[in-house]
Amino acid sequence: MTNRGLPTRTLGRTGLDVTTLGYGAMSLDARFGRTISQDEATEVLHAVLDGGVNLIDTSPDYGPSEELIGGAIAGRRAEYVLATKVGCPVAVEGGHVYTRENIVAAVEQSLRRMRTDHLDIVQFHGSPSRAVLEEHDAIGVLRELQQQGKIRFVGMSGTIPNLEEQVGMGAFDEFQIPYSALQREHEALITSAARAGAGTVIRGGVARGAPAEDKGWNIRRLPEVPDERPRATWEGAHLDDLLDGMSRMEFMLRFTLSHPDVHTTIVGTANLEHLRANLEVARQGPLAADVYAEAKRRLDAAAGAAS
Ligand SMILES: NC(=O)c1ccc[n+]([C@@H]2O[C@H](COP(=O)([O-])OP(=O)(O)OC[C@H]3O[C@@H](n4cnc5c(N)ncnc54)[C@H](OP(=O)(O)O)[C@@H]3O)[C@@H](O)[C@H]2O)c1
Repeated sequence: MTNRGLPTRTLGRTGLDVTTLGYGAMSLDARFGRTISQDEATEVLHAVLDGGVNLIDTSPDYGPSEELIGGAIAGRRAEYVLATKVGCPVAVEGGHVYTRENIVAAVEQSLRRMRTDHLDIVQFHGSPSRAVLEEHDAIGVLRELQQQGKIRFVGMSGTIPNLEEQVGMGAFDEFQIPYSALQREHEALITSAARAGAGTVIRGGVARGAPAEDKGWNIRRLPEVPDERPRATWEGAHLDDLLDGMSRMEFMLRFTLSHPDVHTTIVGTANLEHLRANLEVARQGPLAADVYAEAKRRLDAAAGAAS
């Protein structure tokens, strides 16, 4: 199926039909991009929806992101699946905390900021372990909010080393997982999550634009990845040889979409030209099977040579 020409996939047991290109609204936070006015955010977010994207991911942690979303597209709420996070410091100072007080305060704040009466997916931010979640019955708190109709599905922003245990818990409807050609540590765990019935949402799917011709590897650091690694991986695998007329960003996004168990990737951008390019690429879908296989073979060989 498609939404305005963008392919859609079913987000695991949520049953939600999401476009394979989602929107990562961390890019509305100056710390990860540039300072964006409400007018600029409104233009970008309407272009996101007009382009057919129907999933938006944000977090209380992303500065003004939630408020900008509320100010821009609350009037189009039926057109998008809205995902945000909890655990972020809202009722507390400092790092992530999974107490009832902090979770309930975050959900109430997100509802208020985004001018909506429900959040479609609420994910635990920061990949907490089972023990940390159980200490405060954090999943139980989200289930109560679900029964009150404030949230629809419970998700996890999960990474190694806790992701395998989180998948095994069977409690999460969706996982947000980092993955791209230049960050493949979670490749097999994406499959585990999907086989367990959860939806899979990829972050970092274009490696923050690191290989883009206009960025020249000059990006803010990717979470979990040493600064020099994206370029070394790209060059070590000689991926330029596989482009065959594609831009590097086209290759990156189509590589991520080629993973058979990826349901959607939430690419961030505050640049309308980049958004248009990403929409065009996502409409084309995965890489040709032989190009994808060859890219993985080269990346495996380069990783073997580096270790
Ligand atoms: N759960 C977590 O802990 C966590 C952590 C990080 C991110 N996230 C979520 O995942 C989303 C995406 O993650 P991310 O921002 O780390 O990774 P990403 O989507 O791989 O990268 C986004 C960056 O790529 C650039 N970009 C996008 N399209 C481009 C293009 N066509 N050409 C050149 N550059 C392009 C954007 O810059 P321009 O603005 O210049 O286009 C933006 O800075 C975030 O927005 C957020 O919602 C979650």
